[in-house]
Amino acid sequence: MKFEVITLFPGFFTSALDQSILKKAQNKALIEIYIHDLRPFGLGPHKVCDDVPYGGGGGMLMCVEPLVKALESIPKVPQKRIILLTPQGEKLTQKKLKVLSEYDQLIIVCGRYHGVDERFKAYIDEEISIGDYVINGGETASLVLIEGVTRLIPGVLGHEGSLTQETFEHDLLGYPQYTRPPVFAGQKVPGILVSGDHKAISQWRKKKALHITRKKRPDLLDELDHEQD
Ligand code: ADE
Repeated sequence: MKFEVITLFPGFFTSALDQSILKKAQNKALIEIYIHDLRPFGLGPHKVCDDVPYGGGGGMLMCVEPLVKALESIPKVPQKRIILLTPQGEKLTQKKLKVLSEYDQLIIVCGRYHGVDERFKAYIDEEISIGDYVINGGETASLVLIEGVTRLIPGVLGHEGSLTQETFEHDLLGYPQYTRPPVFAGQKVPGILVSGDHKAISQWRKKKALHITRKKRPDLLDELDHEQD
């Protein structure tokens, strides 16, 4: 998988991409990440990339021309997806991450300021939001997307079985988990988990996952009901 990020703040990514699973996945050549600085594509001697909106109103917009030039400078592969990160996009979910992980190249444009000139939308495949809140720009959001997709790529986590049991897999939250010590400050590990009865453990975990989901995120169960209708 090739990630290509277009940003006004390339420095934002230097340490983040050099840690943990993103670093390991790059070292194993399972992913490649290219950060493209938008600034050199800016207009005029000052390399301007933003301007005031027609019709007035506060804030600055990202200009369409530098964005298109930056996009055009990236060599494309056939199975690619061009994504604009914006709070106006479709909300990112685990399902969406899975769909995105099937592509060979994700070109991610980090929006900034009060958004991008509407005409840039003709050049992208989809708009994605990481949630119903506003952050200062798409850079943080792009790291969420890159990490979320990377961990779904075969070979990255090294123990794929764990993916099938985690939160949001089967549209449920994860079940409670414990490690040593067996008792901490009076709190005991549930006896069933040390029983060695794998069938009973699996049933207990399913029951707990359902219970926790019903309590904390009943909306997920509603969605599941609708999917099965
Ligand atoms: N830029 C600002 N807020 C954002 C969000 N919630 N998702 C993606 N990009 C953003």
